[in-house]
Amino acid sequence: MRKKAAITRSLLVQQLANGEFHSGEFLGNLVGVSRSAIANHIKYLTEIGLDVFSVKGRGYRLATPIKLLDKNRILGLIGQKDITSLEVMSVIDSTNTYVKDRLHELPQGFVCLAEAQTNGRGRRGKTWVSPFGSSIYMSMAWTFKGGYQSMAGLSLLVGIAINRSLKKMGIKDCKLKWPNDVYHNFRKLAGILVEVEGQVGSDASAVIGIGINIELPNSVNEIDQPFVDLVSITNKPVDRNELVALIILTLTHMLKEFENKGLAPFLAEWKDADLFYNEYVYLVSGSTRIHGMSKGINEGGALLLENAGKVTPHHGGEISVRRA
Ligand code: BTN
Repeated sequence: MRKKAAITRSLLVQQLANGEFHSGEFLGNLVGVSRSAIANHIKYLTEIGLDVFSVKGRGYRLATPIKLLDKNRILGLIGQKDITSLEVMSVIDSTNTYVKDRLHELPQGFVCLAEAQTNGRGRRGKTWVSPFGSSIYMSMAWTFKGGYQSMAGLSLLVGIAINRSLKKMGIKDCKLKWPNDVYHNFRKLAGILVEVEGQVGSDASAVIGIGINIELPNSVNEIDQPFVDLVSITNKPVDRNELVALIILTLTHMLKEFENKGLAPFLAEWKDADLFYNEYVYLVSGSTRIHGMSKGINEGGALLLENAGKVTPHHGGEISVRRA
């Protein structure tokens, strides 16, 4: 039953995607349900963040047309023929959870994408607001033969990969906030959630979760920090399929180098994009607050803070800017 509803909604979204009006009767005939059932499906779609409105006598319409994620197009862009390497979902609880639950059966570099998440997860137990069709929600599976120790700094690498991909799309002025947020003009554009599984002394696998705001609906108001989306930065439509393909290609390439050489080859790139390099910052971890001048990162991905002429590495916590 739930699967049938999901297929029906997916058909409705495909029909509505062009941004034109479609009557309830037309949609009902198309998917084989009554007009009132259509009204219920539309209600659900608006609840998961799709900006649909209805006009009496004309039917339903999206506030702005959307280009849906397209598995074949992405596979074509990355030059991949293996259809099992990519899964594109309509609505899911969380792409990270999906990959995490299947980590040991998925091929190296497998990617799960979704149009919407009903339980998108951020770092430190936070919710990642995930409305339909307005962001990139992706998770990649990667196993490291070298185990845990070969993964130091992985989440920072992912930030660098996103920034590289954005640059290739012409968005050149993004910054990285340690440990792994992508910012534009001091507002958060993208977040990364890396989850790791494995035992000491053997392979370790990571779920690399990436969320990038593309064109968030105006109704989004649950985000508890300054944020921005790509369309507001570029003032033009963003091709999510192209950006996803670029990220997959860039990240896969970088992960292979990272497996052999660690974070060292990427340190200069990080420094170039470091939001707080040479700034006084606070590092907050639980009730502990350390301040110092931010001096970038080391090969293990630790934040370097200088205090009284001494530079020390720090592995945990969140940066906030020092207030006098
Ligand atoms: C953060 O708190 O900054 C990390 C956000 C990570 C969000 C992404 S969206 C795709 C993947 N699935 C999730 O549930 N979370 C990550």
